[in-house]
Amino acid sequence: MRVVVTGAAGFIGSHVAEAMAGTGHEVLAVDALPRAASPAAAWANWSDLSGHTGVVRAEIDLATGDLAGLAEADVVIHLAGRPGVRSSWGAGRADSERDNVTATRRLLAACAAPAGSRRSPRLVVASSSSVYGSAGGRPSTERDPLRPASPYAAAKAEMERLTALAVRQGLPAVVLRFFSVYGPRQRPDMAFHRFIEAGLHGRPLPVLGDGGQSRAFTHVSDIVAATVAAATTDLPSGTVLNVGHPEHVPVREAIEVLGGLLGVRPSVRHHAAVPGDAARTWADPGEAARLLGWSARVGLAEGLADQVAWHRGRAAESTARAAQAVRAEQPA
Ligand SMILES: NC(=O)c1ccc[n+]([C@@H]2O[C@H](COP(=O)([O-])OP(=O)(O)OC[C@H]3O[C@@H](n4cnc5c(N)ncnc54)[C@H](O)[C@@H]3O)[C@@H](O)[C@H]2O)c1
Repeated sequence: MRVVVTGAAGFIGSHVAEAMAGTGHEVLAVDALPRAASPAAAWANWSDLSGHTGVVRAEIDLATGDLAGLAEADVVIHLAGRPGVRSSWGAGRADSERDNVTATRRLLAACAAPAGSRRSPRLVVASSSSVYGSAGGRPSTERDPLRPASPYAAAKAEMERLTALAVRQGLPAVVLRFFSVYGPRQRPDMAFHRFIEAGLHGRPLPVLGDGGQSRAFTHVSDIVAATVAAATTDLPSGTVLNVGHPEHVPVREAIEVLGGLLGVRPSVRHHAAVPGDAARTWADPGEAARLLGWSARVGLAEGLADQVAWHRGRAAESTARAAQAVRAEQPA
């Protein structure tokens, strides 16, 4: 299949692009690197993608660029956007609107009207558990009302509304609601990334709020498996699926697990809680199991060990590079 992956320089997009190319699909990887919340991380992922057979890269800003060529694909996996509740307040609101809502509106329009007699590609659109607001005493199901509590969550809810509208007009599309994703290449603004870097450098772990908030932490390999399954299965158009681990774990418990993996007793520095951050996210993944045969396989201890190993590998690489640079500067 010819597959477009938007946001392919991102945390999730880079893994999905690799997985699709690795299973024999032709991948057009699309990203606007200056739009990334963490440009350095995006550039690293982007340059790694160049080494993958079956991946062609194109720098296109979905909010302003020419998107006509993207509609020639069989499937478009839309992972581009401006994620994050915290950064969406204040001046960040405009970025969230632009890169989540405007970008998606333009992508849907381009795919709905492909050139000539071509059929529209199928779309898989990434949404977020944040559209639910905070879960109550039971897991969130896809039928629950949306209660976005931040500009980011509102933008994701608007992306879903635009997608549903396009579906009613005949565009084949499905929505995946991802729950707190972690693992190798996690974005530098995300909690585990910040905790592990702090732990490895002997600094206190920066916790937003009291650490009592709980999350359905979901390993990126499970997110990739669900995304690939959604892209390669003929799901009914308009399907919305939770993609999240069925357990929810308080941040302070996750920190205990991390401490064990890092071999330290972690000290913690608390910072103000983020307005609009859910007290609890809790996934009911029953529909994804029924329609995709998908369920999360990676538990938190195993998944965190994988992420810690990735951070350690990066640190070792940068130490080796620094040593090489020092040797190169020494007179022969
Ligand atoms: N990471 C999570 O825990 C999580 C949870 C729920 C939902 N999501 C959603 O999954 C998707 C991917 O998240 P991520 O964590 O990989 O984010 P990321 O920031 O690592 O990746 C997003 C990519 O989109 C690109 N991008 C931004 N604006 C663009 C534009 N206008 N045109 C083209 N490219 C653009 C960025 O350059 C970046 O490389 C996002 O839609 C996000 O809202 C992520």
